[in-house]
Amino acid sequence: MITVNNVAALRAAVTQARAEGKRIGLVPTMGNLHAGHIALVHTARQHAAFVVASVFVNPLQFGPNEDLDKYPRTLAADQAQLEAAGCDLLFAPTVSEMYPDGTAVQTRVSVPELAKELCGASRPGHFDGMATVVNKLFNMAQPDVAVFGQKDYQQLAVIRAMVRDLNMPIEIIGEPTVRADDGLALSSRNGYLDATQRALAPLLQRTLQAMAEAIQGGERHYEALMTRHRQVIAGSGLRLDYLDIREASSLRPAHANDEQLVILVAAYAGNTRLIDNLVFERATVADKAQ
Ligand code: PAF
Repeated sequence: MITVNNVAALRAAVTQARAEGKRIGLVPTMGNLHAGHIALVHTARQHAAFVVASVFVNPLQFGPNEDLDKYPRTLAADQAQLEAAGCDLLFAPTVSEMYPDGTAVQTRVSVPELAKELCGASRPGHFDGMATVVNKLFNMAQPDVAVFGQKDYQQLAVIRAMVRDLNMPIEIIGEPTVRADDGLALSSRNGYLDATQRALAPLLQRTLQAMAEAIQGGERHYEALMTRHRQVIAGSGLRLDYLDIREASSLRPAHANDEQLVILVAAYAGNTRLIDNLVFERATVADKAQ
């Protein structure tokens, strides 16, 4: 694996790989890699003969009071993990390489409808900053295929919409969430949790599973179901941001007859913001027989 930190070197390596007839796969990350990221690399490898991973903590997607400064930066360990996973090239640019004129004047990409709710409501500007850097990475690496984790479900929806709306010739693959044994979705931010918070955090996935089971068991009063489970989370010691049932591809609020559903949750354990989701099919065998 080679590591490069400037766009010219990335372009040269990608041009060479393409000249050799290789498909290019891209795995954008913010580093501090865990098994969830490595699964993205393995999936990229199945779809592309030349796999590029990027490690860049993107200032444009952090709000003023968020964790940009303390976000874990572990490049040497990331490099070793990517190499072991069979990645071909690591792109690890500096902020000035990505934003030579500074972030303030940077052209932005916005997917306004999808970006304004759920995480977007409590993190204004986050999805514009994320879509902008992903767009830049796409232009720099020119991948045929890019792989993102489904843990960031709304992020994946924003990226899919951007690619569709801007006619980008890139296949987007969503990778299932990798979890700890107790169900907690792996995340670089889990490292911020103390022992008490870590013990509380799997409640999020348990809540989503209980709600999905209720819906699959025939529950159609989604408002009442959400209210009950919001109270459970709020009473647990976690601070709830949102808990919502949505139609899985459009992310609009779910109707009782929608088949493909996603339940999304965001909550704070102390100052650490955790997100999770569960995608499932509503219909039970009994529904289908009606
Ligand atoms: O999911 C992430 O790690 C980031 O949002 C991404 C896609 C790498 C863009 O900075």
